[in-house]
Amino acid sequence: MLSRSSSSLFPVLAHGTRAVSSSSPPSSLIRTVRPLRHSPPSYHHLRPARSANMSTFKQAPHKLLVIPGPIEVTDEVLFANAHPSMSHVSPDFIPVFGDCIRMIREVLFTADAQPFIISGSGTLGWDQVSANLVEPGENVLVLNSGYFGDSFADCLRTYGAVVDELHAPFGSAVELPALETALKSKQYKLVTFTHVDTSTGVLSDAKGIAEVVRRVSPNTLVALDGVCSVASEEIQMDAWGIDVVLTASQKGLGVPPGLSILVASQKAMKVFEERKSPVTSYYASWKKWLPIMRAYESGSAAYFATPPVNLIYAFHASLTQLTKRSPSLAERFALHREASARVKKAAEELGLRQLPVDPKVAANGMTALWFPEGLKAADLLPRLAGRDVVVAAGLHKDNKEKYFRIGHMGVSVVDKSRGDIDKVIAALKESLAEAKASKNVNA
Ligand SMILES: Cc1ncc(COP(=O)(O)O)c(C=O)c1O
Repeated sequence: MLSRSSSSLFPVLAHGTRAVSSSSPPSSLIRTVRPLRHSPPSYHHLRPARSANMSTFKQAPHKLLVIPGPIEVTDEVLFANAHPSMSHVSPDFIPVFGDCIRMIREVLFTADAQPFIISGSGTLGWDQVSANLVEPGENVLVLNSGYFGDSFADCLRTYGAVVDELHAPFGSAVELPALETALKSKQYKLVTFTHVDTSTGVLSDAKGIAEVVRRVSPNTLVALDGVCSVASEEIQMDAWGIDVVLTASQKGLGVPPGLSILVASQKAMKVFEERKSPVTSYYASWKKWLPIMRAYESGSAAYFATPPVNLIYAFHASLTQLTKRSPSLAERFALHREASARVKKAAEELGLRQLPVDPKVAANGMTALWFPEGLKAADLLPRLAGRDVVVAAGLHKDNKEKYFRIGHMGVSVVDKSRGDIDKVIAALKESLAEAKASKNVNA
């Protein structure tokens, strides 16, 4: 079980905002905040939350979560999430939200793209793209490298887009020459692709895709589904010419689930502003959200729908770690590559084959592995869980029963002192040997 104290101080929130108040502590603190000497051991009589601070907070012991999202989060992030309730229009909260808008640009290496940080999950990013950037009847090309390509295409069709799909063979990404041919045969408003398809662990060449679209069809927008890649794979939005990056809080960004995060280039915003037909969604409408994002960034509050205040505090803590602390973003990407190489090498030594057919298309934040012939999820995953390591089963409809997935993103990779990767490798080795022995599998 994990049990650790925080290794660094809670990052100072913007403009002196502090995670203290006189209200009762949230339940997530109960097990870890030391009660006052004479306090009875009941929730209601615990000392007020002002006694809670980062030096006494550590999260409860738990199994190591190494699925490809949600991932482990740091004590700092969890503690920030336990912020006492705040008004979403409070002067203390406004700069925290504003900082998040500014810092997510840094993560994506963009100077002027427009972030949208909204309550929701990654899926809401597809709705935002479909409802704001595409008008009913317009052509969209989806580069489909797995389960999440199917879903993005489905979402686009729901809003009336005319969708063509280029399907990569299982375990592969769409080849750039096929993209070029498709772009030459038809005018597309938008090309979408899944940077890392979480169902297969396939990594697409974001830079290469954007380069082909820019060269062959300069007016076509490029949208990158980065739910399983932001902060674990490098994304140079401005330099590569990506128009939309959509993601969620619970993977590389290291925050609990609940935030839809989308960043749109100025080119995409112009396309949005010049659309002829009304936006085809209410909640996902940028007409509603753009004034809100602009207000918070410029230091005032505005209301369309209540933002997830506590998650924004958690996001702020995580973005601070990502952009203002060591290791740098470049070092983080290198650490993800290193951890990924370790997991993949260990798996290979155990005789496990990867789903991605070529190391060039294998993600750095996760590993997808075929079960040896004769084994299935029920033989291996409970044995790993018995060793306090939680991995994920297969997801892609074609081969769901035949493989499993390990996530290696965020703090599990960046903070080597935790020993998470060692623990995963050791547990895999033991569990696999045990599973094989139980099924008389020799492969
Ligand atoms: C690549 C990718 N896109 C989109 C999604 C959908 O995100 P969510 O489950 O947060 O709605 C996921 C979820 O895992 C994903 O991995």
